[in-house]
Amino acid sequence: MRSHYCGDLNESLIGETVNLCGWVHRRRDHGGVIFIDLRDREGLAQIVFDPEDKTSFSIAEQVRSEYVLRVQGIIRPRPDDTENLDLATGKIEVLCQQIEVLNTSETPPFQLDETNLSEEIRLRHRYIDLRRPQMLERLKLRAKITTALREYLNAQGFLDIETPMLTKATPEGARDYLVPSRTHAGHFFALPQSPQLFKQLLMMSGMERYYQIVRCFRDEDLRADRQPEFTQLDIEMSFIDETMIKDLMESMIIKLFKQVLDIEFSQPFLTMTYHEAMNRYGSDKPDLRIPLELIEVGDLMTSVKFKVFSKPANDKHSRVAALHVPKGGKSLSRKQIDDYTDFVNIYGAKGLAYIKVNDIEAGRDGLQSPILKFLPDEAITGILERTKAANGSIIFFGADKTKIVNEALGALRLKIGEDLKLIEPGWKILWVIDYPMFEWDETEKRFSALHHPFTAPKTGIEDLTANSAHCLSRAYDMVLNGSEIGGGSIRIHRPEMQSAVFEVLGIGKEEAQEKFGFLLEALKYGCPPHGGIAFGLDRLVMLMAGAKSIRDVIAFPKTQTASCLLTSAPSPVSQDQLRELNIRLRTKSTD
Ligand code: AMO
Ligand code: AMP
Repeated sequence: MRSHYCGDLNESLIGETVNLCGWVHRRRDHGGVIFIDLRDREGLAQIVFDPEDKTSFSIAEQVRSEYVLRVQGIIRPRPDDTENLDLATGKIEVLCQQIEVLNTSETPPFQLDETNLSEEIRLRHRYIDLRRPQMLERLKLRAKITTALREYLNAQGFLDIETPMLTKATPEGARDYLVPSRTHAGHFFALPQSPQLFKQLLMMSGMERYYQIVRCFRDEDLRADRQPEFTQLDIEMSFIDETMIKDLMESMIIKLFKQVLDIEFSQPFLTMTYHEAMNRYGSDKPDLRIPLELIEVGDLMTSVKFKVFSKPANDKHSRVAALHVPKGGKSLSRKQIDDYTDFVNIYGAKGLAYIKVNDIEAGRDGLQSPILKFLPDEAITGILERTKAANGSIIFFGADKTKIVNEALGALRLKIGEDLKLIEPGWKILWVIDYPMFEWDETEKRFSALHHPFTAPKTGIEDLTANSAHCLSRAYDMVLNGSEIGGGSIRIHRPEMQSAVFEVLGIGKEEAQEKFGFLLEALKYGCPPHGGIAFGLDRLVMLMAGAKSIRDVIAFPKTQTASCLLTSAPSPVSQDQLRELNIRLRTKSTD
């Protein structure tokens, strides 16, 4: 049907007859001549219809936007003054010799070049949305990225192995999507939150190097960078340590960026401990493109009368930190500062004290702040020196439990970075390491795993049990421009250690047996030391495409409420289907 893609036509083909297939992007009537911009996956070509050719002309008169055509024509140069240099094919046009309407189209719900479309209408008619060149480009980029990743891993001796979708729960911290079993009444499969346990079992099977581009399912609160089903590049290797896997993964990312975007990263990537990341940036995925840092000032506040500061300064679970914004005193209005106070409230901060520096030479009189009266001279001088504040600066303060201060000032740092356009262009990539093994869950009054319960600790069993709160793990995350693009760890490969970790997590022997008995059993039969990582492919593509949401790089994404507007899934099912699955739905009144 077709000899060339529209977008591939160029001057070298002048004089040749071509067969094109595609969609009517635009039709223009110009004083007796009709022009159609024909669009396909590779771009646009201008087709000209001569009124002398009555058959083709009368067909061209009837076509409308998004009709599907086959056109045979001869390539000729455009007249000098009609060249369109914005278009790759803008120097030539195709004089139609024959046209066939392969299909008609109703008037589409939106024009492809319409801006400001609501996401709802785009998702409802995703097949039309995907015709837009920007969306096509993003999916093409995604395919290029997966190809490059596969090429790299294949060359490194990794085997692409599939793991089950209908399986048992693999905990990654989210709720499971469950699938009822028809053949086992009252029993359920869980869709995998990740292939974690299967990839570990593959190492126990002697596969040595595994990868998979795999769908994962997590029923969790959704945001711009989270979907209920998303794709991981999942990797696992035997007989390795952190250095080896970090090296290999750095090389993979470096090759990927070079090949796809022609961007160079240098090796080794920066490595930062979790502790340092939290202290300096209030986040374990710091965006290093923003030149602002949290600065510890607690030691200056231990004996001030201002309780808001002195109380957390004297408590080991709390901190007092400052966020210095050079020139912020000039550019931020009173209203913005009030808005920031409301903003940090979301993270549990009870207030947002600040000091504006108008004239640093004038001492106390040169400052403007609601807390000045509560602070002695030494504390003020200490703050100004430590933050390196200058005229025009503003210094914000967070004083509370460490977790609250980090979350509040960490988020404020990002917001101010964006509001004041402080985000430096380019790419900042790093590893974050030395995570705590466990996190204390205040509501449940128990430890939970910061990564997953299969991550190896840096210490032995004795220390793990005696010193759980301070135990570090052998986990590592890769962070790109403030986004966690990958995470992994060296795993536990001995059954005693795995049982000890379950114990700290409050997973009793019986529960461990019921949930992970197969893993504990497999660990007994010669499990090699192993480790791995999983990259969030959608996030990686989103960043590389310069998109704002992962929904923009997924062909058929779900909405923020985890539904598909195109197919109206999830949807009710028939009573018969439910009966077959032994399921009776609860009515509202019996809830
Ligand atoms: P983790 O849970 O950190 O690790 O997931 C790995 C990466 O997957 C991405 N990601 C998501 N992307 C989109 N939507 C989501 N809901 C979502 N959740 C996670 C992130 C994250 O870095 N089994 C371990 C990996 C390992 O230890 O090897 C795991 O799944 O980019
Ligand atoms: P107050 O004495 O509560 O009126 O607070 C005086 C100033 O300190 C106000 O500017 C508050 O916004 C600020 N503030 C109160 N609590 C905190 C806190 N936990 N961290 C930082 N600033 C605070």
